[in-house]
Amino acid sequence: MTRVTEDTLTDAVIATIADNADPRFREIMTALVRHLLGFAREVELTKEEWLAAIDFLSRTGWRTTEKRNEFILLSDTLGLSSMVDFISSRGNDDATEVSVLGPFYIDGAPMIDNGGDLIAGNDGEPGVVHGQVLSVDGTPVAGAMLDVWQNAANGLYSTEDPEQNEINLRGRLLTAEDGSYSFTTIRPMPYTVPEDGPVGGMLDAMGRHPWRPAHIHFKVTADGYQDLITELYPDDDKYIDEDAVFGVRDSLAVPFTRNSSADEAAKHGLDAPFFDLGYDFRLRPA
Ligand code: BEZ
Ligand code: FE
Repeated sequence: MTRVTEDTLTDAVIATIADNADPRFREIMTALVRHLLGFAREVELTKEEWLAAIDFLSRTGWRTTEKRNEFILLSDTLGLSSMVDFISSRGNDDATEVSVLGPFYIDGAPMIDNGGDLIAGNDGEPGVVHGQVLSVDGTPVAGAMLDVWQNAANGLYSTEDPEQNEINLRGRLLTAEDGSYSFTTIRPMPYTVPEDGPVGGMLDAMGRHPWRPAHIHFKVTADGYQDLITELYPDDDKYIDEDAVFGVRDSLAVPFTRNSSADEAAKHGLDAPFFDLGYDFRLRPA
């Protein structure tokens, strides 16, 4: 039926989806059309507002490049990325919670020794990060790969900052037989998500700031286990309760404990004071 009224339009659009369309695609498109047209009716969307939305989405596409995906940033700042993470983690209560990947991951960071160093001359408060990678049942996972990345003392990731070596503050290491890992690094800094594009304009119009609390990113992979992408946040960060991309979970906000002992610092090849972050990752079997 193509002759429609406001009341029949939604069903008319849904009826155009072929009977033999992929069933999951059909389910998603049906719900999308229902919510989209229902939304327009609920807010009584005007022509000008509809055009502004088309313009916003167009600019979001134009701002997207191979190195910067403004649509993912839109998804992150509207909570969609975290909602998808929650849905895909349902029933996963004993595993480490996941958090957003973000745009600054690069594949193939250099391998470092377990116990190795990422500081490599960076300014900032030094610290040691250590713990174990375990299965959800507590079995240590030997040979798990920890892929780590974070920003520098100026708040920038290496990929954003021409002054940094592109592998600065990035590294991969393998857990020992007992699942243990450790590495030294600097304390990460809070930073703003890219705010010079349409998403920045949206945040501004919503009266929101673009800050993320400081964090260290981890991608943990091991044979026989599901990949884990997550972040650890200092629990005393200024922005811990107002992350612009909603990535913080209670279990991921952890103490970066300050230690002033020169003897303890020396054991890790660091100067005091340093921070000590102990965290065990728990992986879900594949
Ligand atoms: C990040 O943590 O690197 C990030 C996540 C989402 C948007 C921007 C940055
Ligand atoms: Fe980040």
